[in-house]
Amino acid sequence: MFLDMSYFIFSMKNLFVRKPIKDILHEHPEEVRMKRTLSSFNLVLLGIGAIIGAGLFSMTGSAAAYHAGPAVTISFVIAAVGCAFAGLCYAEFASMIPVAGSAYTYSYATMGEFIAWIIGWDLVLEYAIGAAMVAISWSRYLVKFLSNMNIHISPEWCMSPFDSITNAKGVTVYGIMNVPAAVVIIMVSLVLIKGTQESVLMNSLIVALKLSVVILFIVLGWPYIDTSNYAEYIPENTGTFGEYGWTGILRAAGTIFFAYIGFDAVSTAAQEAKNPAKGMPIGILGSLAICTVLYILFAHVMTGLANYTEFKGQDGIAPVAVAISHTPYGWLKQGIILAILAGYVSVIMVLLLGQSRVFFSMSKDGLLPKVFSELHPRFRTPWKSNVIFMVFVSLFALFVPARVVGEMTSIGTLFAFVLVCGGVLLLRKKMPDAPRAFRVPWTPVVPILGICCCLGMMIFLHLDTWVRLIVWMLIGILIYFLYGIRNSKFRQQA
Ligand code: ALA
Repeated sequence: MFLDMSYFIFSMKNLFVRKPIKDILHEHPEEVRMKRTLSSFNLVLLGIGAIIGAGLFSMTGSAAAYHAGPAVTISFVIAAVGCAFAGLCYAEFASMIPVAGSAYTYSYATMGEFIAWIIGWDLVLEYAIGAAMVAISWSRYLVKFLSNMNIHISPEWCMSPFDSITNAKGVTVYGIMNVPAAVVIIMVSLVLIKGTQESVLMNSLIVALKLSVVILFIVLGWPYIDTSNYAEYIPENTGTFGEYGWTGILRAAGTIFFAYIGFDAVSTAAQEAKNPAKGMPIGILGSLAICTVLYILFAHVMTGLANYTEFKGQDGIAPVAVAISHTPYGWLKQGIILAILAGYVSVIMVLLLGQSRVFFSMSKDGLLPKVFSELHPRFRTPWKSNVIFMVFVSLFALFVPARVVGEMTSIGTLFAFVLVCGGVLLLRKKMPDAPRAFRVPWTPVVPILGICCCLGMMIFLHLDTWVRLIVWMLIGILIYFLYGIRNSKFRQQA
């Protein structure tokens, strides 16, 4: 596409054009507003529903096995600290700009359109790719559940082509595609198309189930902890960066950071909150605090029941099943797996919901095609967007291995958090008196620490994850210059 020189100069000049907050709050005409139905309690549940999932039930195992050993508990503490700083920044923004769109909308108001685009595009990694990761883990637990009942699905249909498994006869089987992972994505997408109200009700039930599983695992497992499994609490570094020792703990923190993702998804529901000024901080920080305590206890019990080396290979994707077989409660295994399977559904739901809301806002702003903001005439949901992401996420779930999608999600989200923390700093400088129901305490210390923690966790992720992030962002920048810059509604008004 040819851009003439004067247009190009105009475009570059307006690259960091900021959208006034009052415009953001009043821009959508009543008929496209979503219904305000969620209380603070609903929002905490929404947060917990998004937070507890594959990160805890799946990634804890491989993070312990390959990077941190039992010291994965320390990784959880480190990741929680980073999330708490970022969570405070999210809470300030969400209470100030309570509209669908999350970090995308916040950055449009503070750092300008280009950064907003970058962040909106980056959020695809968190929400859409994150949903694929949870679906992959769902598939693994389903396979475990069925095989415990002597129903065996051919392994090649439950793994990506990059994964393999060695069976009892020593034969290695390579995957073709992960069909169950795609099936769960399709099921959840269809529920979302039908409407948020039904989804929230179902989410509340599932959250209760999920919390029961976590608490039950901790309480029942605790007496059977074999302290000899902690003998090497921080296994000695192998000489390779990120393999045990402190670099391993930090790499594991970057990986299991995935387990905390979701509290920020609460902010994408701001437009549906009854009282966003109060509900946003409570929803975000409340759900984060509850999960942090549970995670540390859960990881402690998991690595105390089984030796961390037992979580290697495909078993690492379903480590709860491994750990529980070290207790006399083997009979509980099926019930727990069933609850995990149900619990994952709520995570996928909130992630996909967050995704469609972010693209809804970007599309309303003209940065993405209209198809992402067209509401269904009866259900009032962005159904076309849901269908597009159903296909996109299913493709990832079918063909890409867990480590790759998991780390892509972590790095993408950490990057978004860095920008949100930076946004709070800017906002305090540029709009110190703008009303906000919640203010980050000890600014600028907290946002700066948030940036340092999140950058720190990013640095310890694998190099190939960095390459993927950079390639994804370059694709996004190209789309912005070819489409967004020409169709931005705000630029046209400016
Ligand atoms: N935190 C969510 C999970 O662990 C994304 O599944």
